[in-house]
Amino acid sequence: MNYKEIFDQRGQLYNDAHQFAPRARHMESDAMLRWLEPVGGETILVVAAGGGFDAVCLEQDVMPDAVSILCVEPSTMFSDFIPDRFTVYNSPLEEIPLQDESVDVVLNLAALHHIEARDCVFDEWARLLKPGGRIVIGDVAAGSDNAAFLNEAVNAYTPGGHDGSFIESGYLTKEFHMRGFIDCKEALESYQWTFESEDEMVTFSRLIFGMVNAQPLQVADAIRRYLNPQISVKTGEASYDWSLHFFKAYKS
Ligand SMILES: C[S@@+](CC[C@H](N)C(=O)[O-])C[C@H]1O[C@@H](n2cnc3c(N)ncnc32)[C@H](O)[C@@H]1O
Repeated sequence: MNYKEIFDQRGQLYNDAHQFAPRARHMESDAMLRWLEPVGGETILVVAAGGGFDAVCLEQDVMPDAVSILCVEPSTMFSDFIPDRFTVYNSPLEEIPLQDESVDVVLNLAALHHIEARDCVFDEWARLLKPGGRIVIGDVAAGSDNAAFLNEAVNAYTPGGHDGSFIESGYLTKEFHMRGFIDCKEALESYQWTFESEDEMVTFSRLIFGMVNAQPLQVADAIRRYLNPQISVKTGEASYDWSLHFFKAYKS
């Protein structure tokens, strides 16, 4: 299966997960917003927008009318869930139908580890940014427990497998420095994905990662092995550890 076939298949499940537990990734959204610092009047391009998670988080942070949010998503099975009020381009990430220097911000969250043609994709993002514009990328760090969970447990239980190429520290600084970006900054952000119950945690995880070949007990076991779950005896609320390596830089 190529990536488009895999993501066409996973898109529905991925979006079902967010509808089922819309607050599960709220700490990730907070981390993204801290890195992005959106400001009124900006045009923000969300690349690999999925079903609209990033776009909706952004509009909740800034007054909806104050920013223009454009979404690029290659898979229509994902983008069918992006609310109609956003402009959506179903194009490859390396060939986005927008003018040179037309956006203030490029955001790419939780997608880079799937992308092989990174040179073309990075060149395209640099082309689209205005001088002084910024790029923010957040993705799974190489060597992290999350990386092992994805390439081992998710790989075993997902029809298309999972073979992510995760982000080494310093890699994005090197790539964007080469492309003339300045003030490059990167750091690991660690937080939890949170759930109202253990059942919600297992169901969300099975859906978002497309682990359809696993029984709920196998998903729970994989979470225990890799993600340090915490279940409150008092409230029944559940969470597990997640992290993303974030990067930010400005086009000179
Ligand atoms: C895990 S989802 C992330 C979606 C969204 N940013 C979020 O955080 O919910 C991964 C995204 O990357 C896209 N994607 C995966 N592999 C890709 C590739 N090789 N080229 C372009 N996009 C890809 C998928 O279509 C999907 O939108």
